[in-house]
Amino acid sequence: RIAGPSGLVIFGVTGDLSRKKLMPAVYDLANRGLLPPGFSLVGFARRAWENEDFAQVVHDAVKEHARTPFREEVWQQLAQGMRFVPGEFHDDEAFETLRSTIEELDKSRGTGGNFAFYLSVPPKFFPTVVSQLKKHGLSDAAPGSWRRAVIEKPFGHDLKSAQELNAVIHEVFRASEVFRIDHYLGKETVQNILAIRFANTMFEPLWNRSYVDHVQITMAEDIGIGGRAGYYDGIGSARDVIQNHLLQLLALTAMEEPTSFDAKALVTEKLKVLNAVRLPKDLGKYTVRGQYAAGWQGGEKVPGYLDEEGIDPNSKTDTYAAIKLEIDNRRWAGVPFYLRTGKRLGRRVTEIAVVFQRAPHSPFDATDTQELGQNALVIRVQPDEGVTIRFGSKVPGTQMEIRDVTMDFAYGESFTESSPEAYERLILDVLLGDANLFPRHQEVERSWEILDPVEEYWENHGKPEQYPAGTWGPQAADEMLARDGRIWRRP
Ligand code: BG6
Repeated sequence: RIAGPSGLVIFGVTGDLSRKKLMPAVYDLANRGLLPPGFSLVGFARRAWENEDFAQVVHDAVKEHARTPFREEVWQQLAQGMRFVPGEFHDDEAFETLRSTIEELDKSRGTGGNFAFYLSVPPKFFPTVVSQLKKHGLSDAAPGSWRRAVIEKPFGHDLKSAQELNAVIHEVFRASEVFRIDHYLGKETVQNILAIRFANTMFEPLWNRSYVDHVQITMAEDIGIGGRAGYYDGIGSARDVIQNHLLQLLALTAMEEPTSFDAKALVTEKLKVLNAVRLPKDLGKYTVRGQYAAGWQGGEKVPGYLDEEGIDPNSKTDTYAAIKLEIDNRRWAGVPFYLRTGKRLGRRVTEIAVVFQRAPHSPFDATDTQELGQNALVIRVQPDEGVTIRFGSKVPGTQMEIRDVTMDFAYGESFTESSPEAYERLILDVLLGDANLFPRHQEVERSWEILDPVEEYWENHGKPEQYPAGTWGPQAADEMLARDGRIWRRP
């Protein structure tokens, strides 16, 4: 899978995402030999930079963040195809310059008219950028070539805004030309959910309401909001990651087997399960939000959310959210899916835990099994990528005592191949026109539809509970599970 002649234009190229993820990903792809020799990278931003200044910025970003070793010859080859277009998004002249830049690259680098436009900009700019692309003839591909739009999240802030954005984008690009990024789908371990479920026989027979007690999907972060106050405040953790990453994880965990591993078949199944997702009636009892207070992390004192730079001291923004969801279909009826995410939690970990029911009958004495928990299959998305199965085993000795043990698969031990960074995989897929790992607009809209009532409820009911940084979130989250006779895992 090597990309054909092509180029990438990044809008918002001076942003953090671009520097930390996109530029290094482009270099890593080149370094792995997955880009064509004439591949070209065009930056567009409001800076008075020359091509050389831009190349220098990319160079520094690559040196700092690339996964693969720096190789001068790869860099030189890539740097020759770097161009910078200074300008504002409403500036017609800048878009004309972009057009001539692309034409020049087609001639000098053989990009063949094939360009992807990456909108790494806040959603309020999407309409201007896509209409400018249209107006200046950049969205229309010449016969035999392609033009694609890559859209970063957040994709709106509720159903209505997402629908409006989709309408604007689809006025200019066909559905098959739009690639919405959810970088979780670019992660190896997330793609592996489908491999585990559908390439094996031993898990799928148990993967249903007859054996599964409940599912916990956790995305915990130890970091705070860093320098992202402008984006985060007013958005919060549920919109930031439950609407996209966690609901995608839920969809992959709960969906039926697709007829093939192609975009259309995958979307069909993901959408079916998302359509069956139901919020509990009592949102007061089964949704929880929190906000981190000052605390300790990694031996350091860290400030509370309200004291972070740029945050409104009266902010009601959630930095932690937990939600119970049910799935109304034959496979999952009555099996709760608990989703939680938070900043400044005990440690960074993302995992999906499928927790099984207890054995219907035990021939052992209750005292022999008092330390036996429930069987669980845990997909560790990050950091210690792998899969763990927990089950009971006899403790060696003269008694019949049974205790939990684990069977572990770790990527590092089983594979010598290194995992590409999520953005590497996704950028390559865009250039190849492979849409498997990109949510379609129906999924994005349905996910907002699921979350909107929660946000509305929160808006009208009190404020988030404070939790000290470095802990596992608000007490109400533990109470929520206790109400159902369950407890959160401490990963
Ligand atoms: C982003 C969120 O989508 O995902 C961030 O906007 C979050 O708030 C990030 O920190 C986490 O990504 P990863 O790949 O580090 O788990």
